[in-house]
Amino acid sequence: MAIEQSNCIRRFVRTCTDGWEQGWHERNGGNLTYRMSPEDVQVCEPYFSLDAGDHDHQWHDLGVTAANMAGQFFITTGSGKFMRKVSVDLEGCVGIVEINAKGDAWRIVWGLRGGGRPTSEFPTHVMNHSVRAEATNGANRVIYHAHCPNVIALSTLIEPDARTWSRILWKSMTECIIIYPEGVGVVPWMVPGGADIAKATCELMKKYQACVWTQHGLFVSGDTFDNAFGLMHTIEKSAGLYLSACAANGGNPPTKLISDEQLRDVCKAFHVSPNEDFLD
Ligand code: 13P
Ligand code: ZN
Repeated sequence: MAIEQSNCIRRFVRTCTDGWEQGWHERNGGNLTYRMSPEDVQVCEPYFSLDAGDHDHQWHDLGVTAANMAGQFFITTGSGKFMRKVSVDLEGCVGIVEINAKGDAWRIVWGLRGGGRPTSEFPTHVMNHSVRAEATNGANRVIYHAHCPNVIALSTLIEPDARTWSRILWKSMTECIIIYPEGVGVVPWMVPGGADIAKATCELMKKYQACVWTQHGLFVSGDTFDNAFGLMHTIEKSAGLYLSACAANGGNPPTKLISDEQLRDVCKAFHVSPNEDFLD
């Protein structure tokens, strides 16, 4: 079996292609990481290589420390690589990266051929894997960042405030509150790819599964590729519905958004506990 046929790589590639087809990944926009299970590592290990020539094989500082990620292996998109190309040039666009025993350095063990490096958001991804693994008792394995157009457009119109965003998203499509009853976090505009955006996002991801990056995109987590992708899709769709409804109403907010009472009824019926701070 080729590494391309392993379940983890097939699902990773499918997610990149699905995101590209949604229009979320212009050029190199967005990035995806997956924390491999011991079974995934066992299947892919025969393809790992530490020979100079295949790829950069040195240890590199992560710039942050994530002790609970020590010894973990991640599949990651490469910095500057295009989601559109992942399915046709897997080894050039994607790599498998090992974290050292202290949780503060990484090295490539497969892929990213020709001098590629993990996404510039790799420190943000690893720190958020650390936080989400802790918050979900190890269940979280996927961190996904996309440049979703409707989320970006909405972030140019409303305040970067979690309550405001969560209410708009919940109230624009009935089943949103079931998918993210805690709401969404919001990071104000920040320079991408640095330690500051990593720290700001981590603080919020202790509580939320997803964070808006103002005028930049969306950052989500999930136990599986399907759930991370589905969360991204649900939030982006709701932002789009709100924007179209505003446009159809002459640029004014929609007049018939779902009420707080209706939101509570949905939660009761589906046995979820909403974030009460965000309900009237
Ligand atoms: P990378 O190409 O380094 O993944 O950066 C893309 C991006 O969207 C940064 O936020
Ligand atoms: Zn980005």
